[in-house]
Amino acid sequence: MSHQPFAAIILAAGQGTRMRSSRAKVLHALAGRPMIAHVGAAVGALAPGRIVVVTAKGMDQVAAAVPGAVAAVQDPPLGTGHAVLAAKPALQGFDGDVMVLFGDTPLVTTATMQAMLDARTKGAAVVVLGFRPKDPAAYGRLVVGPGGLERIVEFKDAKPEERAIGLCNAGVMLLEGAHAFALLEAIRNDNAQREYYLTDVVGIARARGLACAVVEGDAEEVLGVDSRAALAGAEAILQRRLRAAAMAGGVTMIDPATVYLSHDTRLGRDVVIEPNVFFGPGVSIGDDVVIRAFSHLEKATVANGATIGPFARLRPGTVLGEEAHIGNFVEVKAATVEAGAKVNHLTYIGDARVGPKANVGAGTITCNYDGFGKYHTDIGAGAFIGSNTALVAPVKVGDDAIVGAGSTVTEDVPPGALTVVRGGKTEVQGGAERFRAKARARKAAQQKKG
Ligand code: UD1
Repeated sequence: MSHQPFAAIILAAGQGTRMRSSRAKVLHALAGRPMIAHVGAAVGALAPGRIVVVTAKGMDQVAAAVPGAVAAVQDPPLGTGHAVLAAKPALQGFDGDVMVLFGDTPLVTTATMQAMLDARTKGAAVVVLGFRPKDPAAYGRLVVGPGGLERIVEFKDAKPEERAIGLCNAGVMLLEGAHAFALLEAIRNDNAQREYYLTDVVGIARARGLACAVVEGDAEEVLGVDSRAALAGAEAILQRRLRAAAMAGGVTMIDPATVYLSHDTRLGRDVVIEPNVFFGPGVSIGDDVVIRAFSHLEKATVANGATIGPFARLRPGTVLGEEAHIGNFVEVKAATVEAGAKVNHLTYIGDARVGPKANVGAGTITCNYDGFGKYHTDIGAGAFIGSNTALVAPVKVGDDAIVGAGSTVTEDVPPGALTVVRGGKTEVQGGAERFRAKARARKAAQQKKG
């Protein structure tokens, strides 16, 4: 991809009241990251000279959600044209082109942005992203004449014949650097909404003899998010894209529609994912891994050939070695389960290391927390932990040691030792019948009284 230098300005000063949220609209997450971070990543792939995020006052976290972006404050917000001008101080010393994006339009692809840069290279001073929605509703309409794009008319200002136009403004715009701020400064607010419309730059540019062009994107890509329902709609589109990319990369999904991926999920070749699996952010899976149904993974690294689930939970800090097995109803947190180790049933492994080829029996718990601090458990290579064992951290089980079932281990177990820590046995011959006889007599006496 080649293009002229450009800066990206992401508009995000809108309040997003229809989200009914105490959080800024553009910070609501899609595929595990704020929607504005998707915009930043898509444009970031084109290496813009600068990224400026325009917010209203008191929205400091918004710009922070876009890596490498600088913040500009628009106070008060007086329209999209006014918002772009608010970024001017942040662009001091930069004289490349200017791409305007909306923080609440998170699905625009890098390829579409590249197509806009290509249209600029061909000579247009202003390039607008257009689309043809099924229902053009209240979008701005693109008026195209014999000489190309002539102007954009906002729905509220449009005459009936303009409202009949099907080609609409998606909001993304690319302006030639040499003209950008002169055009923006010429915008007036003599319109139905008393706002400074960014869209007016097209008419102004044409009046100055500059060429304007339209690049058409698909309606799905330019979906704007202004409600929780639209957020869910955008998530569905993004998930479809992520699943398609995963399958194209060699992943089998038995029922793709039930698998939820994160924007950064990394999956190796020949990974098999059964239905109803959820990936939070920060998961990296090697080759030939099987993830069985109803598993939940976040911030976890899994090496080649491991198997996970069904019904497994890998929490942040989990590292699984090659061929490790994590079975049903097993939770792992901040722990390394090394190559070939097996933790197959009903177990909690937290703040721990499970050495290579160790076997952890059903119902084992690493007791890592005493209400104040977190403590580490270390299980050595080849160790065998019997079922229903409580390992009270900090504690170490040496290599090849065996811990008998039902033990509560509070002291280190030396390598190769066999340790059993249980209460002593009491056995009374015939005691069961004597117990029942006494109990029956007691109950009969109570019934008589009552
Ligand atoms: C805008 C376009 C319209 C287009 C539509 C696509 C204008 C005048 N109209 O209309 O042609 O069809 O998007 O969705 O540009 N914002 C600010 N500061 C402001 C106003 C808005 O930062 O003062 C930001 C908002 O946070 C949002 C974006 O700009 O991210 C678009 O604003 P919005 O009010 O949604 O524009 P529309 O009226 O939908």
